[in-house]
Amino acid sequence: MKQLHRIASAVVLGAVALGAAQAATVTISCGAVGADFENCKRHSAQWAAKTGHTVKIFTLPSSSTDILALFRQMFAAKSTDLDVINIDVVWPGVIKDHLLDLRPYSKGAEKEHFPAIIANNTVDGKLLAMPNFTDAGLLYYRKDLLQKYGLQPPATWQEFNAAAKKIQDGERAAGAADFQGFVFQGKAYEGLSCNALEWLTSFGGQIVDASGKVTVNSPATVQAFKLAASWPGTIAPKGVLNYAEEDARGVFQNGKAAFMRSWPYAWSLSQGADSAVRGKVGVAPLPKGSAEGQAAGALGGWQYAVSRYSKSPEAAADLVMFLTSREIQKERAVKSSFNPTIPELYKDKEVLEANPFMGNLYEVFLNAVPRPSSITGTKYPEVSQAFWNAAHDALSGQATAEDAARRLEGRLNQIKRGKW
Ligand code: GLC
Repeated sequence: MKQLHRIASAVVLGAVALGAAQAATVTISCGAVGADFENCKRHSAQWAAKTGHTVKIFTLPSSSTDILALFRQMFAAKSTDLDVINIDVVWPGVIKDHLLDLRPYSKGAEKEHFPAIIANNTVDGKLLAMPNFTDAGLLYYRKDLLQKYGLQPPATWQEFNAAAKKIQDGERAAGAADFQGFVFQGKAYEGLSCNALEWLTSFGGQIVDASGKVTVNSPATVQAFKLAASWPGTIAPKGVLNYAEEDARGVFQNGKAAFMRSWPYAWSLSQGADSAVRGKVGVAPLPKGSAEGQAAGALGGWQYAVSRYSKSPEAAADLVMFLTSREIQKERAVKSSFNPTIPELYKDKEVLEANPFMGNLYEVFLNAVPRPSSITGTKYPEVSQAFWNAAHDALSGQATAEDAARRLEGRLNQIKRGKW
């Protein structure tokens, strides 16, 4: 008995000593849109309490474009300041040289996630990131106002334009002078590339085809750019040319707009205690270009990865696996409407109760349209910048839809220079 006791103490002591020797300080960069930051901070603290490691939080800018610029600077300097970084779904091919292969740490956990996202995050056979949440562009609408004006959620852009105008005119006449038909992301950044991809896909267009050919100078792009150019100053505020996600959400959540294009995260916030539109919001697929067209939501989403320059790769990878686990994904979905990347969770009662759209619009998530990041590889950021600039030129009236599409084709071929 006595001997057993001694052995047990020795084991515990040994474990404590080992723990102290291995305790690491890990710095994680957390996204800043909606409840992403709070979740990242809370869950990282849970992991620290569980493992005995220490976590430091690094706050990122809210725009994906700004975050990429920041990471590229840090990578160029081989900075050890960040261990865990959150990366946009369009970046694995772009920053692949700076990320660690997570396969030695994942113990096969990647098999639980959507295979398409794992394929996206796997470059040259290396699993460069674990999925955190997935995204697709959605149409938010005011249920109460559609009912008031005898309207249905619009299926085509034509119906959409008419509905937005009718509600805007009616609400303005009733005294809400600054009421808007539609808010979306019209600023010149990655978010506009997502919006514009949705418009042109809805008319059957593409930026580049499956073989890598630049196919953007098409009637579909011209129709898409013309449609968008008709919005600022009519059913959308002129200021939309400078709106990112949180600007659009601010207007919609204050009850000042009939429709909003956004991502799933806006759902739980629209239902929050401080939301002016709580209980009044519906979510639908984005409209089609025509009755025969396609309803398209751009594919978005974020992953966690470990920087190759991390001094504590093992602890960092452990944090990544914790944050992307089923348990944490479920909590993030239920509390903050971030879409899980584990298909099983789309059958979970609590997830579906908190987010009816995750079940009703499951097809939208499955068929979300990817930006051409895989095919254009390291050139994707330049491709996207050319695309959002062209869309912004058309949207702001700086260029006609035809000129914007033609110049974009030229610019993309220049970036391609023969091959991607
Ligand atoms: C969302 C998406 C991301 C996209 C960004 C654009 O965060 O998840 O993929 O690049 O919006 O603003």
